[in-house]
Amino acid sequence: MEKSLQIIEQDALADLEKAVSRDDVDLLVTRYLGRKGALTTFLRNISKLPVGDRPSAGKDANALKIKLEEAFGDAGRRLEDQDTGGGIDVTLPGRPVIRGSLHPVTKISREIVAIFSRLGFDVVEGPEIETDYYNFEALNIPKYHPARDMQDTFYVSENIVLRTHTSPTQPRVMEKTAPPVRILAPGKVYRCDSDLTHTPMFHQAEGLMVDKNVSFGDLKGIITTFIHQLFDPDISVRFRPSFFPFTEPSAEVDIQCVMCRGKGCRICSRTGWLEVLGSGMVHPAVFENVGYDTEIYSGFAFGMGIERLAMLKYGIDDLRKFFENDMRFLRQF
Ligand code: FA5
Ligand code: MG
Repeated sequence: MEKSLQIIEQDALADLEKAVSRDDVDLLVTRYLGRKGALTTFLRNISKLPVGDRPSAGKDANALKIKLEEAFGDAGRRLEDQDTGGGIDVTLPGRPVIRGSLHPVTKISREIVAIFSRLGFDVVEGPEIETDYYNFEALNIPKYHPARDMQDTFYVSENIVLRTHTSPTQPRVMEKTAPPVRILAPGKVYRCDSDLTHTPMFHQAEGLMVDKNVSFGDLKGIITTFIHQLFDPDISVRFRPSFFPFTEPSAEVDIQCVMCRGKGCRICSRTGWLEVLGSGMVHPAVFENVGYDTEIYSGFAFGMGIERLAMLKYGIDDLRKFFENDMRFLRQF
């Protein structure tokens, strides 16, 4: 035996007293407990002791091993904490929490809903996967009617489509509700479209107001009020005669192109105007489909393109940007 257990213990504890860093302690672990360490060597050589001494030497050596492991461990942790100021460097700058923001379509949808809520409209929602009946037939668009061409869509099966507009919410609500009705139905719609001002999925908000004595004047008043509230009271709005099978008369509503201030640019196809919604007086055939008395009630409906409104409101020149998920674009809102 080169060294007695007692000496190993004395040396180890004396060395530990002098340790001033975690690295010092690690060296001691190697020196005493490592593969060639003093205590390990002692344990390995127990077989060379007289048989009678072996059990107590082994027991003492193992007890010392546990004692040193604990002492080195404690000292190592204490010195490490000192090195790093308790594990926290209070001089480091804070890590900022990255704040998300609402998608511009969500933002403007909420504004639209807020304006119509103030005008007394209830918000409802309809399914995005719709039957041919509600998307077309109930709206006076029979199979093979040429109006179906303007709204080519994705067919799930022969009679199930991804809705091409939010208008199917009109018959869905009227079937279940007696007049008066005043609803706004925002949501996603789908069409086989893709260019600067068209995407295959986009959002619309449908409005419907039915009561006694509702006139085209009410339609103009509500739409103009809405546009003036969403943009500003100076913006020009124009009602342009149009056709929808489910309204008569029908009008599309354009607002002055905010990109070129009406001079004409590629966004407005050089016309100075951008179409934002379709509208009209509810066609009697639609009322008949839902069992409303056309002698007593009249109403108007409109369907607006939410991305189009967002483009104009935020000055965005390509509608497809809304869905490219480019963070540089989205962070601006
Ligand atoms: C309709 O969808 C009718 N349902 C609107 C309506 C409702 C008329 C109630 C009468 C009564 P239109 O196909 O024109 O109409 O679409 C309405 C608006 O959606 C357009 O004015 C435009 O702003 C927007 N829009 C149409 N297609 C796209 C598209 N592919 N991408 C983005 N916006 C679109
Ligand atoms: Mg249109």
